[in-house]
Amino acid sequence: MELIVRNATLVTPTETFRADLAVARGIIQAIGTPGSIEHAEAEKAEQIDGEGCYLLPGAIDVHTHFQLPMGDTVSADDFYSGTVAAAAGGVTTVIDFATHGPHETVKEAIEARRLEADGKAVLDYSFHAGITRADEATLAEIQTLPIPSLKLFMAYAMRLEDDDFLRILETAKAAGALAGVHAENGLLVDALRERFIKEGKTEPLYHYLSRPALVEAEAVSRALRLARLAEAPLYVFHLASGEALDEIAHARRQGHRIFAETCPHYLLHTADRYREPGGERFILSPPMKEESDRQRLWQGLANREIDVVATDHCPFMRAEKAGPFHQVPNGMGGTEVLLPLLYSEGVAKNRLTLNRLVEVLAANPARIFGLPGKGNLAPGMDADFLLLDPRGKKTITAAEQFSRCDYSPYEGWSLEGAIRMVFSGGRVLFREGRFVGDQRGRFLPRTR
Ligand code: URP
Ligand code: ZN
Repeated sequence: MELIVRNATLVTPTETFRADLAVARGIIQAIGTPGSIEHAEAEKAEQIDGEGCYLLPGAIDVHTHFQLPMGDTVSADDFYSGTVAAAAGGVTTVIDFATHGPHETVKEAIEARRLEADGKAVLDYSFHAGITRADEATLAEIQTLPIPSLKLFMAYAMRLEDDDFLRILETAKAAGALAGVHAENGLLVDALRERFIKEGKTEPLYHYLSRPALVEAEAVSRALRLARLAEAPLYVFHLASGEALDEIAHARRQGHRIFAETCPHYLLHTADRYREPGGERFILSPPMKEESDRQRLWQGLANREIDVVATDHCPFMRAEKAGPFHQVPNGMGGTEVLLPLLYSEGVAKNRLTLNRLVEVLAANPARIFGLPGKGNLAPGMDADFLLLDPRGKKTITAAEQFSRCDYSPYEGWSLEGAIRMVFSGGRVLFREGRFVGDQRGRFLPRTR
């Protein structure tokens, strides 16, 4: 054995128990009651005392945008700073995006993204393929991609019309790939934006008012119906409103295979942020909604209508988050505080059980996105885990974050719980808040 974690409280989606856990060659070899791991095997191993801490599977953030070009800028974190920030918060796998440009094949886009990530990422990573057109060549490519999850847009310039959306869903289904959707009615957003700009209404609040809940709910409802027509499963990225969640809950009750993701900011902030000074810092799409939406999302998370919490990590520097709303680059950071916030605001406030936290941050993302070695703690699984001390406390400040962004949407928030150590493939990435890892993150082709 190379590593043994002793006396921790191990948490899976279904169980919580005191255990020792042993690792060799990056894989969990054994889990047993405290003291049960053989002495002869234990002698050469690094011993970690997990007394008083929870031992959790590493979180899988299935929604990051490292080094994403937007307008004339690029998101603040590259694959090095972004994955260090992710690891600081107990994330051990990320799924980012490779979206093909107008003159690029999907495979070329994936290769280009791999060149940006390989040798930089400090933890294992993969991509979703962003699909922006439904020509014959692209449909043919979808059938042989090494990454069986897609992202389709109903908003932005790269949005798909319904007929193309349907063709891609049918192709994805035949290929065993899962399509995901950014669901906002893009035509309606553009019309509302233009109206506000013409009227000189360009404060941050008008970003929100140009993308109200019904814009999301209508697009979700249409996407669900298109998925029904194609008899295909569908993953809804970054769900922001109760109205859209109701659509999903209804489709699921009818037996359709629909997966829903929300993000920490929809659980923890509301559109009130856009009414306050500095509201530009919170401009992202879909925007946060009202308090009733926030409550409905927490409810959906607890009652299993929502499957995954991921971050949509896409920060821009404070100086870039300025000006009229339509010129502010969309996105905010979050991967570094995903698990700490969900523990502190969710588990410590009795909104979620710890087992449910493991389910939505690790087990469900692994199952939905075809990562069989990830997302749980059991012999044979990758040794990706963290020690969380529930007695610890922390205050979030931009000055101390590992992300290169110079502000945090959670500045000054107090957290219950502190992450003591983070491991990827049995190697220590973080020890007491210090990065001690290396850039050996692997690209993960995924199973269909
Ligand atoms: O506003 C957001 N979500 N920015 C990131 C890029 C995207 O739209 O997914
Ligand atoms: Zn996104």
